[in-house]
Amino acid sequence: MNIIVTGGAGFIGGNFVHMMVAKYPEDHIICVDALTYAGNLETLEPVKDKPNFSFVKADIADRQAVYEIFEQYKPDIIINFAAESHVDRSIENPEIFLRTNIMGTAILMDACRKYGIQRYHQVSTDEVYGDLPLDRPDLFFTEETPIHTSSPYSSSKASADLLVLAYHRTYGLPVTISRCSNNYGPYHFPEKLIPLMIINAFNNKQLPVYGDGKNVRDWLYVEDHCEAIDLIIRKGRVGEVYNIGGHNERANIDVVKTILSALRKDESLITYVTDRPGHDQRYAIDPTKINNELGWLPKTSFNEGIKKTIQWYMDNQDWWEHIISGEYKRTN
Ligand code: NAD
Ligand code: DAU
Repeated sequence: MNIIVTGGAGFIGGNFVHMMVAKYPEDHIICVDALTYAGNLETLEPVKDKPNFSFVKADIADRQAVYEIFEQYKPDIIINFAAESHVDRSIENPEIFLRTNIMGTAILMDACRKYGIQRYHQVSTDEVYGDLPLDRPDLFFTEETPIHTSSPYSSSKASADLLVLAYHRTYGLPVTISRCSNNYGPYHFPEKLIPLMIINAFNNKQLPVYGDGKNVRDWLYVEDHCEAIDLIIRKGRVGEVYNIGGHNERANIDVVKTILSALRKDESLITYVTDRPGHDQRYAIDPTKINNELGWLPKTSFNEGIKKTIQWYMDNQDWWEHIISGEYKRTN
């Protein structure tokens, strides 16, 4: 099979490409990525010379470029990871989020209609459900929870989800959608909470915690997310949404303190800073549907995953130092 993975030079897409290239040597994995600030060819170093891997630099919102890729590679499956993914950047400048996350998704699906595919999979987020109150630990997001977004980022992802479901109903496109909680692990861009805190702590720099640090995120090790997506594209029911999460809720301040303790650094590095506007309070996924229907369960506990992640950042300083220095853009 020919499998197009968009956004494969980013964090989750990169981990997914590594897994797929190793797991399915008979399949051809084609990474399509525009190499924005978040895309990094160094993330694809482990697979770049594999015979079942190809890389194409292209923008998913460029219709002609996307159609040419479909003509050349005749994909059977598309998995769309490509997105502008950072909430804070969407608050600063929403427009690019609308272009990539909404128009890019529509153009990819138009190509799927024009050329025909077996499956289009949209990688979405739990942020489309908005947030849950901190004082109601009994509440979780299910696939039936209404869409209720807070940020330009989550609004753009929700818009894309609605389009995906509309293309299924109106044109019969064989789609699936997954909505995952916060990922962490190797190759995570150092603007996001966990990698930023690891690197700042390592460098004895201040750790900026938004507001009072009590906001809760539901953390999932990235490889568990990748395995869930692989299951959904093979066994998931067409037209369905699957939530992905592993019941790993943590307050931000506790995550930060865990990182400081693992690196034997002092908590005086913590600095409370102005809160994010519209900051979602709590995310918590109910993964019952994917557990029961597809038998998926996460393999990595938070304690194990955070140790592996910190170790990865210690062992791969070149990867993040090249980002901080800007050197990674010289190869892109
Ligand atoms: P990321 O920012 O690390 O990577 C995004 C990738 O998409 C980059 O390689 C970038 O170059 C590429 N890209 C951006 N615009 C593009 C365009 N117009 N055309 C082609 N490529 C483009 O993001 P991530 O954290 O790996 O997230 C991947 C997907 O998973 C996103 O759709 C995101 O919404 C979703 N998601 C992320 C999380 C998380 O915790 N990180 C959780 C749930 C869902
Ligand atoms: O829930 C899934 C989402 O998780 C994905 O859809 C997004 O693409 C991904 O970026 C992530 O969004 P968050 O906003 O939850 O992740 P972020 O790492 O930006 O922030 C995590 C929490 O940490 C959030 O409550 C804000 C807080 N934070 C973040 C940063 C960068 C801080 O307190 N300080 C910081 O410096």
